[in-house]
Amino acid sequence: MELLTEIRVMQQVAHEPRAAGRTIALVPTMGFFHEGHLSLMRLGRARGDLLVVSLFVNPTQFGPGEDFKEYPRDLDRDLRLAAEVGVDLIFEPSVEAMYPPGFQTFVTVEEVTRGLCGAARPGHFRGVATVVAKLFHIVKPHVAIFGEKDYQQLVTIRRMVRDLNLDIEVVGHPIVREPDGLALSSRNLYLSPAERVSARSLSQALERAKALYRAGERQAAVLAAEARGVIEAQPHTRVDYVAVCDRETLEPLDEVKEGAVVALAVFVGRARLIDNCLLP
Ligand code: PAF
Repeated sequence: MELLTEIRVMQQVAHEPRAAGRTIALVPTMGFFHEGHLSLMRLGRARGDLLVVSLFVNPTQFGPGEDFKEYPRDLDRDLRLAAEVGVDLIFEPSVEAMYPPGFQTFVTVEEVTRGLCGAARPGHFRGVATVVAKLFHIVKPHVAIFGEKDYQQLVTIRRMVRDLNLDIEVVGHPIVREPDGLALSSRNLYLSPAERVSARSLSQALERAKALYRAGERQAAVLAAEARGVIEAQPHTRVDYVAVCDRETLEPLDEVKEGAVVALAVFVGRARLIDNCLLP
């Protein structure tokens, strides 16, 4: 496995397989790999002749007071795990190279980023869309793989790809969970043992919404309130939002007619965790 840090070199390296008709798959990450990342890489391995994983903790998607500085990092461990999964190339640029002095061009995806996490984290999706657009131009993938846990991020990137006519297939990978249902996230590391117990309530809340939906409940307010109740019954939790939205526009729904996504964000201790499920 090769490690590249220079943007220009990465662009040149990507040129050759493309010209030879080989498929490049990209898995964009912020590192500190867990099984969720490794599953994205395994899917990328199956989809691409050349599998590139980018590893970059992107400062523009963190707001003031968020955890950019403390975000967990362990390059040696990441390199070992990626090599085990069969990654061909890790692209790990510096912040200075990605955002040199004078940088002032950003990608804004408008409507789908307004609500949910976009409301609580202004500028977050502008940072995500910008870095992903840059990575697409640097790595030149045919296929890019993203986790469905960050559902709003996936919708945002799909929208950007469509709106800017980028010739890239965006593939979502189902959420990978701990045996007790907690969605894997690098931020789970911030949980104390007691908070880790309370964090189970996120997936339990989604299960509650799904069970009610299966039993015929279609009022979004009822589904959201019941899910919220499951979380609020646990100590250490502070709900940011529980929302029932259209799967593509992410507009909040009153009534679930043709499927929906139930999305939630919850502070458990100092960790802000997100999760979601689809109502078919
Ligand atoms: O999901 C993430 O890890 C990040 O938001 C991404 C897509 C790598 C962009 O920095």
